[in-house]
Amino acid sequence: MERTRIVQVASGTQLVNAHLQAHYEVLRLWEQPDPQGYLAENGKQVRGLVTTAGHGLRNEWLDSLPDLGVVSSFGVGYDTIDAGELKKRGVQLGNTPDVLNDCVADLAVCLLLGSARQLVRGDRYVRDGRWPTEGAFPLAQSVSGKNVGIVGLGGIGSAVARRMAGFDCEIRYHNRKPRDDTPYTFEPSLAALAQWADYLVLTCVGGPSTHHLINREILLALGPKGTVVNVSRGTVIDEEALTQLLLEDKLGFAALDVFENEPEVPAALREHERVTLMPHAASATVETRLKMSQRVIDNLDRFFETGEVISRVV
Ligand code: DGY
Repeated sequence: MERTRIVQVASGTQLVNAHLQAHYEVLRLWEQPDPQGYLAENGKQVRGLVTTAGHGLRNEWLDSLPDLGVVSSFGVGYDTIDAGELKKRGVQLGNTPDVLNDCVADLAVCLLLGSARQLVRGDRYVRDGRWPTEGAFPLAQSVSGKNVGIVGLGGIGSAVARRMAGFDCEIRYHNRKPRDDTPYTFEPSLAALAQWADYLVLTCVGGPSTHHLINREILLALGPKGTVVNVSRGTVIDEEALTQLLLEDKLGFAALDVFENEPEVPAALREHERVTLMPHAASATVETRLKMSQRVIDNLDRFFETGEVISRVV
C-alpha cells in the first residue's frame, strides 16, 4: 500500500521519528540545503507536515504544498507558524497543549523560588570555596505570603497559581478578559498588577498580540522589590528595557527560560547577578516530552483517520 507523504521539518524525538518512519513516506526537510527548492520539486502529494514550536514553518513553502491538509506541531506555542494563513488555505493545525501544563508550571515555580532564594548564586558560592573565607551569604527574598501576579491565566498560568497558593501567596491575574471559573482576582490594568506584585509570572501566548507587552513602564511598576519570571516567549518582554532597568537597579530580579533571540542571550543578562537563566527547557522532562511526542503522532494519525486533529488550533 502506498504510504501517505509528509514533510518533517526538523528531526524529532525518538518516538516521533520512529513512528513517522514506520507509517509514512517522510521527506526530511532538515537534511536539505535548499528546503524551498526541494519542496518545489517534491511537494506534490504531501498531505501532512510535522514541525516544532521552535522551527515553525515558512509561508513560502505552502505554495509548493497544494495537497497539504494538516500541520502537527510539537509544543503548545505556535508563534512561529502563521495559523491565519493555514486557516485560509483550509489546513488544520494541531499542537500539544495541556500535557505540558504541570511541567511548565513546575519550572516557573522553580525559577521563582530559585531566584528568590539565590539558589544558583549559593551553589556557586559553595562550589567556588568562598564560604569559608567570605562568611555570610547575602540575604535573599521571602516567597511565602507574597503577592504573585500572573500574566495570562490559561492552563499553565492556572497551574502556577495553584502551586503558589500553596505557598500562602495572594494571586491576581491579568488576561484580556476576566475568567468566571477561577478563585483568583482579575486585574484589568497590567501596570497596576505589576505595581502590586512581588513576583510577576508570564504565562501568556507569544506572537504579535503580546510583543513587548512587558515594556519599560510595566517593569518600572514592578520595580526594585519585584521579580519577573518568564516561561512564555522571549518576545513578551522588551529585553533591552529589562537589561537597562536591571543595570540601573530599578528592577529587582529576572528569572528567564525564554529570550528574544534564542539561543543568543545578551551578555548583560548572562553576567548579571540578579538574573537566573534556563535554556528554554520548561517542558523538557522525559515524561512530558513523551506525552508531547504522543500528541504530535496522535494529531497526525487522527487527522488521516477522521479528518480532525485532537488538539486543534485552526
Ligand atoms: C512550547 O511548547 O511551546 C515550548 O515552548 C516548547 O517549544
